[in-house]
Amino acid sequence: MKKRIAVLASGRGSNFQAVIDAIQDGKMPATCAALITDNPKAYAIERAKKAKVPVIVIDFSSYPSRELFEKALLSAMQQVNADLFVLAGYMRMVGADIVRSFPAKIMNIHPALLPAFPGLHAQRQAVHHGVKVSGCTVHFVDESLDGGPIILQRCVRVLKDDDEDSLAERILHHEHECYPEAIQLFCEGRLEIIGRNVRIR
Ligand code: GRF
Repeated sequence: MKKRIAVLASGRGSNFQAVIDAIQDGKMPATCAALITDNPKAYAIERAKKAKVPVIVIDFSSYPSRELFEKALLSAMQQVNADLFVLAGYMRMVGADIVRSFPAKIMNIHPALLPAFPGLHAQRQAVHHGVKVSGCTVHFVDESLDGGPIILQRCVRVLKDDDEDSLAERILHHEHECYPEAIQLFCEGRLEIIGRNVRIR
């Protein structure tokens, strides 16, 4: 049985593309039911059109308040009726109502080894802190900022001449492998959450 997944993205959408590619290559028992974006100018929309994935735009700037935006987003997510929502460069925190509506059904990828460097500019934080190793983390989304149960992580060495951009580029390469892998595990029913731990069966 194929799972229905929906992707939320705000920008470039290279992780979204990695998910589309994995589905098209037959690596993942899933169909991509929708791209949902808060940004009508997101390049992810072009990728969706090319892959014939339906696009839903919930334009953040056209809502008078964050609450009303979140309400519209929640309603769109309910209509899509996905087994899994994949945040792929979705640049807002998902509100509590949405998290509570889809427990253990929302995943995120973050470009650092959480719990180090949550929030924005994780690669810059890593370079400024002087860590020798960083990477990426796929996790389930809870109400905290980048703090939900960790599914997979990949390590990337920080080189002595790295700046934010060079580190981000190397991490991104790993993201494109790690995220489809985590989604595949979900689709195969192999992820079990026990407290803060995610067991892979
Ligand atoms: C990625 O680095 C991801 O980890 C972070 O935002 C970036 C999105 O890139 N959350 P893209 O839009 O998938 O190319």
